[in-house]
Amino acid sequence: MNRSDSGRFKKIGILVGVVLLLGLGGAVAAVFPSASNEGYSPEQPIPYSHKLHAGTYKIQCQYCHSDVEKSKHANVPSVNVCMNCHSIVKTDSPYIQKIKKAYDENKPIEWVRIHELPDFVYFPHKRHVAKGVACQTCHGPIQEMERVYQYSPLTMGWCLDCHRGKTTPKEVVARVYPGVKDPKGLIAPHQCTTCHQ
Ligand code: HEC
Ligand code: HEC
Ligand code: HEC
Ligand code: HEC
Ligand code: HEC
Repeated sequence: MNRSDSGRFKKIGILVGVVLLLGLGGAVAAVFPSASNEGYSPEQPIPYSHKLHAGTYKIQCQYCHSDVEKSKHANVPSVNVCMNCHSIVKTDSPYIQKIKKAYDENKPIEWVRIHELPDFVYFPHKRHVAKGVACQTCHGPIQEMERVYQYSPLTMGWCLDCHRGKTTPKEVVARVYPGVKDPKGLIAPHQCTTCHQ
């Protein structure tokens, strides 16, 4: 943890305390509007295309992002996964040769990270996937993207709008409240400590 993180932890600790005392939960997202990286789409070391792999060839997301159901984090696949196919597919391509070189030298490809929450936010992928929230609900039409971009704002207000039922997809509501016709309740908890531990 670096200094600014621990500063933020303190800031949040104090705020969480104050807000709990005053019972003003809902106002926080409005009082602390935050910057968003929506649309962020950095150039990658190899022009890997989701449109081609996940779209045209319909390779399942979990084939590569295999941790997403098991873990807090979704992983980006290692070169071994690419080599399952590219040890024989398109070996004349200079990009594929770059992948093979990384594989032979046992070096990772340095993909540039796109989605990144601050360290003081707790976001468990598996809890969302287990309730049937589709990857595309949060990440947009990845299978149509030549180059991945950040589709959602990933701000606190964005998280809360779904947890409070405002933007929750119908099929997710049905998974959280099976058999209930018109659930008035909350979809997911929204106490500060749910996401800030
Ligand atoms: C053949 C492997 C493969 C498949 C299949 C695949 N991905 Fe990826 N994905 C990657 C690689 C490699 C990266 C890192 C490079 C990049 O960002 O394009 C990545 C990056 C991402 C990112 C951005 C990660 C970040 O840095 O924030 C998201 C989100 C994502 N994939 C979602 C999906 C979804 C949703 C699907 C299914 C529709 C999918 N992927 C299918 C290999 C794959
Ligand atoms: C399930 C098989 C499969 C896997 C796994 C796979 N690919 Fe591919 N990839 C393909 C196919 C099929 C093509 C299209 C080949 C063609 O155009 O003839 C392709 C094409 C490509 C191309 C375009 C090459 C060019 O010069 O046209 C790149 C770059 C690429 N893949 C990168 C990756 C990376 C990086 C990974 C690992 C994250 C990966 N692939 C995993 C099947 C796969
Ligand atoms: C409820 C919204 C939501 C859903 C559903 C979701 N993601 Fe994510 N995803 C995020 C957020 C938020 C981040 C940034 C996480 C962080 O920085 O800790 C992220 C980050 C990622 C990353 C970058 C690595 C990481 O864990 O930070 C990948 C890859 C990814 N998601 C793939 C997927 C795939 C594949 C699916 C579907 C199986 C999926 N996501 C479903 C919101 C979501
Ligand atoms: C599209 C809807 C949606 C979005 C967007 C979303 N969530 Fe969730 N979240 C859910 C659902 C559904 C659950 C599961 C509730 C359950 O298990 O009953 C959940 C559960 C959680 C949990 C586990 C709560 C517990 O029971 O302990 C955490 C933590 C969480 N979300 C954090 C986040 C954060 C942080 C963000 C934003 C970066 C976010 N969520 C965005 C729908 C969403
Ligand atoms: C559903 C998840 C979730 C809940 C519940 C939640 N937050 Fe957050 N919070 C986030 C996310 C994601 C961020 C980072 C993105 C941003 O700044 O909007 C954040 C950022 C913050 C920040 C930093 C803002 C900034 O400008 O840097 C503060 C302070 C904060 N939250 C306080 C609270 C308090 C107090 C509560 C309880 C009333 C709360 N949060 C409840 C998800 C949540």
